[in-house]
Amino acid sequence: MAKQGSKKNVKLKFDTQWQYSAAPESPDHIILSDKYDLFINGKFTPPQSKKYFDTINPAKETRIASVAEAGQADVDAAVSAARQAYNKVWSKMPARERGKYIYRIARLMQERARELAIIESMDGGKPIRESRDIDVPLAAAHFFYYAGWADKLDYALPGMKAEPMGVAGQIIPWNFPLLMAAWKIAPALACGNTVVLKPAETTPLTALKLAEIIRDADLPPGVVNIVTGAGATGAAIVNHAGIDKIAFTGSTDVGKIIQKALAGTSKKFTLELGGKAANIIFEDAAIDQAVEGIVNGIFFNQGHVCCAGSRLFVQESIANTLLRKLKDRMETLIVGDPLDKNTDIGAINSRDQLNKIKSLVKIGINEGGECYQSSCSLPSKGFWFRPTIFTNVAQSSKIVQEEIFGPVLAIQTFRTVEEAIEKANNTPYGLSGGVWTDKGSKVFKVTSKIKAGVLWANTFNKFDPTSPFGGYKESGSGREGGMHGLSAYLK
Ligand code: NAI
Ligand code: MG
Repeated sequence: MAKQGSKKNVKLKFDTQWQYSAAPESPDHIILSDKYDLFINGKFTPPQSKKYFDTINPAKETRIASVAEAGQADVDAAVSAARQAYNKVWSKMPARERGKYIYRIARLMQERARELAIIESMDGGKPIRESRDIDVPLAAAHFFYYAGWADKLDYALPGMKAEPMGVAGQIIPWNFPLLMAAWKIAPALACGNTVVLKPAETTPLTALKLAEIIRDADLPPGVVNIVTGAGATGAAIVNHAGIDKIAFTGSTDVGKIIQKALAGTSKKFTLELGGKAANIIFEDAAIDQAVEGIVNGIFFNQGHVCCAGSRLFVQESIANTLLRKLKDRMETLIVGDPLDKNTDIGAINSRDQLNKIKSLVKIGINEGGECYQSSCSLPSKGFWFRPTIFTNVAQSSKIVQEEIFGPVLAIQTFRTVEEAIEKANNTPYGLSGGVWTDKGSKVFKVTSKIKAGVLWANTFNKFDPTSPFGGYKESGSGREGGMHGLSAYLK
């Protein structure tokens, strides 16, 4: 059984402060069609498959729109449009001109930022505060950043000639739908490639809005094609003979399938897969800041973050204090309506994902872990999960080893720096991690010994288009973002 927190612990503090009234962002001005077609060769085109699927609002369990399911013939059409655009227009265009188009996309995204943020929260369940302050501005920032590189590629690779790869197939997940589309499309275009992108089946709407923006930016037809569908559509892209490069972000399981499918072909690939990041708190850390970092690291975006700080290692001497402060803070987190500006934790993205989280938490309890959840109220409809922590877990526990992709934190203690490093590295993943300490030397020692692509010191989950992102081991291969992200799209 999970122990549940009680507001009583922190009641005094909050009675004397304030209770927030609901502050919902209005979706009234949002224009959504009832049915979305495929974006191929610059036009919205009905699928030859004639199939559609529904995308729902996970906070309400209501249908938002029907979305086309691209079959083989549709993927063929998208790849052939991308090839034509590559051969005839995009690879021939002066780089400076390519840059102008990418800038135009960035500016249109900024103009429509509010609309994009609301749709992102409706379709995927993430709090509007995040989609408004993180997803959408960062997505636009990626287009701005890579627009700047378009005519400077020769400086990025001194002594070499920058040549595009051709047609890129890009498959993205549901946790940062618009941002992942930007991560993939912006560098590909800047380097002179054309694109066939597939958003995740539970969150296709912002990619389709991006298709409208791309059309409004007058991008030559076929340079960006957006096809919707589920795993079969993704597989049709991966296995298509007309594709030169695959960029995938998603589960390690599907990443392995893709890697196998591409073995022995000339296709290049980058894979950004799962993670099980360690957040390490030393006794000399600023403890309240660290608590905020922990909360941000694992409860942010419902824990639907590949680099989420899902394992916490606390130095033994401060473990009790930190745990008390963390539980207090958990009690104040608001779970509910993603469109409410006060919401900290929105809806779990899908019923499947909710079931996966529930079953892993059950396994954690059966394995002897001590489970504690906040006492917040949950809406009656929709997919929700309370912020949850586990103590008394072993390195071998399933919830310590496996990616849960939900607001669930496994907490362990350590005594020495060496022990912390060893425990943190004891994982099949290596995407990210965090270190909290007052000592710069300790930061350097620990970060140089942890095998992860991204490490934060005294902060967590900070992103910037200029810095590369990617993993070690089962977390994938290749880097996205920054100058490194360019080489993934150049020969
Ligand atoms: P998934 O890996 O199945 O989905 C990611 C994308 O791949 C989607 O667009 C999907 O349609 C596509 N896809 C699925 N099967 C494919 C195939 N055989 N070939 C080509 N494309 C394919 O992830 P899913 O099932 O939505 O989530 C399962 C778990 O994966 C989560 O619980 C989480 O642990 C992890 N995950 C990790 C992400 C990350 O950012 N590292 C993102 C999403 C999920
Ligand atoms: Mg949806």
